[in-house]
Amino acid sequence: MEGRKVSDTLNIHTELIMPAHTNPIGNLMGGHLLSWMDVCAGISAIKHSGGISVTASLDNVSFNLPIKMGDIVILKSFVTRAFNTSMEVICEVFIKNIKTQEEVKSHEAFFSFVGLDFRNTTPIKVLPVIPETEREKELYEDALHRRELRLINAGKMNAKDSVYLKKEFFNDNDDGVNVI
Ligand SMILES: CC(C)(COP(=O)(O)OP(=O)(O)OC[C@H]1O[C@@H](n2cnc3c(N)ncnc32)[C@H](O)[C@@H]1OP(=O)(O)O)[C@@H](O)C(=O)NCCC(=O)NCCS
Repeated sequence: MEGRKVSDTLNIHTELIMPAHTNPIGNLMGGHLLSWMDVCAGISAIKHSGGISVTASLDNVSFNLPIKMGDIVILKSFVTRAFNTSMEVICEVFIKNIKTQEEVKSHEAFFSFVGLDFRNTTPIKVLPVIPETEREKELYEDALHRRELRLINAGKMNAKDSVYLKKEFFNDNDDGVNVI
């Protein structure tokens, strides 16, 4: 089957946290991080689709670990799965300790991008993704569930049509009545 390997969509971006990026207590502002994550993930989507791709949505991001002024952060993204015109991209953020070379993961988010035609107006079909490693295969499988949940959240899918919700939370009994 024609497709593109996950590894071909890998994008890595490094930033040094400067005073202009921080809030009054010296932590990186969330908006800056989100902007870098969006661009990093968008480049992965462009690598996959071969053309312009727009952000359709971003699943939740928690700011559990502060990134401090002077820290070096590394953003890594790749396409986990392509559907029809849309692609799911994971973007992970790591704080790098230069002395030890250790990288600690601080943030993670799943983005959805839609490939557009040459006029940048109409969604176009994108190639399938070819997962190779165990992690890539796991992310690929689970992407179907995440897609259903985000489309339900966006009001673009009826929860009753979700294969994932039916399988995980409901059992169809013989009377055709759903029980939790
Ligand atoms: C994203 C966008 C192209 C979707 O257009 P649309 O008319 O809703 O198109 P469709 O309903 O045909 O959906 C196209 C694809 O987007 C996906 N999609 C739509 N809304 C989505 C959402 N909230 N989250 C994830 N995917 C979404 C659909 O599932 C579909 O994917 P598929 O073809 O793989 O099944 C359109 O809403 C848009 O242009 N939004 C603005 C994008 C932008 O400017 N982003 C920059 C940040 S402001």
